[in-house]
Amino acid sequence: MGEATEVGELCFSWGKLKGKTLQTCEISCLNLSYIFGGLIVQNMTPAVIASVETMLEKWKGYVGKEIEVYHEFRLLTSEVISRTAFGSSYLEGEKIFDMLNKLESEELSKGIQDCVMKIVKKREDKVENGEANSFGNDFLGLLVKAYNDPDKNNRLSVEDLVDECKTFYFAGQDTVNSLLAWMVFLLAIHGDWQEKARREVFEIFGNQIPDSEDISKLKIMTMIIYETLRLYGPSIGMMRRAEREVRLGKLVLPANLDLLVVHSAAHHDPQLWGDEVHLFKPERFAEGIAKAINYNVGAFCPFGLGPRNCVGMNFAITEAKIALSMILQRYTISLSPAYVHSPIPYITVQPQHGIQVILESLHNDA
Ligand code: HEM
Repeated sequence: MGEATEVGELCFSWGKLKGKTLQTCEISCLNLSYIFGGLIVQNMTPAVIASVETMLEKWKGYVGKEIEVYHEFRLLTSEVISRTAFGSSYLEGEKIFDMLNKLESEELSKGIQDCVMKIVKKREDKVENGEANSFGNDFLGLLVKAYNDPDKNNRLSVEDLVDECKTFYFAGQDTVNSLLAWMVFLLAIHGDWQEKARREVFEIFGNQIPDSEDISKLKIMTMIIYETLRLYGPSIGMMRRAEREVRLGKLVLPANLDLLVVHSAAHHDPQLWGDEVHLFKPERFAEGIAKAINYNVGAFCPFGLGPRNCVGMNFAITEAKIALSMILQRYTISLSPAYVHSPIPYITVQPQHGIQVILESLHNDA
């Protein structure tokens, strides 16, 4: 990975996301940067907190019993994406994402497009009738704004608008689902780190819901997130295409060659991380990423590298920090004897048989 900078010579392709062509993806990526610029301004924290609260309300019935958290976090991350993408229309959004999860057929694609466009039309009508002065501050609102751009050349097409919704869902749901589940798994088997993380959460938030201003103070939690991403990063690699012949270290890559840069191999390389490479040691990141990787950028890149790296990185880390803080404020977590370890790469790195844990309440009323 010493030659990582030369990867910049290669052309990016995020790959085919359920029916997206590489060409539409290129268009899509440009718009996404613009849209995420808007989303950073907008505060996503309330949407995450509301969804975590719904999940924890249900968990009250599972105290002392086994619960499968990979499935729980799938529901959570779908709701978060739906609330962020569709705001007040999030229940309609959930129906659309439900359809996306079913096998794609032409009929279903048409159904998805019709549903999205119905919500778009409602928002356009509200602006036209003077009932609202904007299309909304959520993801969809920003897309509808781009769809109505007065400059024809900048205007988003219907297909692009629907594709953006799909990309947002597939890139943002499965990944955080996997990150949260593996974090809980690692903390369930490393009680010392679970306790350290909980202590930090109480020091910063007490028993209060996480405050967006203070989320960046969670240093221990950040180390745990990085170490989880190193050991069980949701993405195992990045797709690249050589636009022209290019030298990559000792290799000469011919033009038009598609390759998968497997960053998870670097994350598990003992030459880069030492003999204890396979152990969970969040303290590696105590002084930040640069120190942990000895300034070798290719050694740790769970969100990709270069100009096309993950636009949702802050979104993902913030969501994980809020969810885990709220869980640790209420429960201790231990691994159920029913758990069978079998991580498999299926789009993201998933626990094949789920992650079963036992929750014990820290308070009498939880
Ligand atoms: C732990 C969570 C996540 C991980 C590990 C992750 C990882 C990645 C990786 C490896 C890439 C490819 C980068 C490259 O090829 O250089 C990527 C791209 C992308 N991610 Fe994420 N991601 C995560 C969460 C999210 C979230 C929450 C969203 C949106 C809400 C998101 C949206 C995207 C998009 C739109 C792209 C394509 C960027 C572009 O085309 O320029 N990701 N992500």
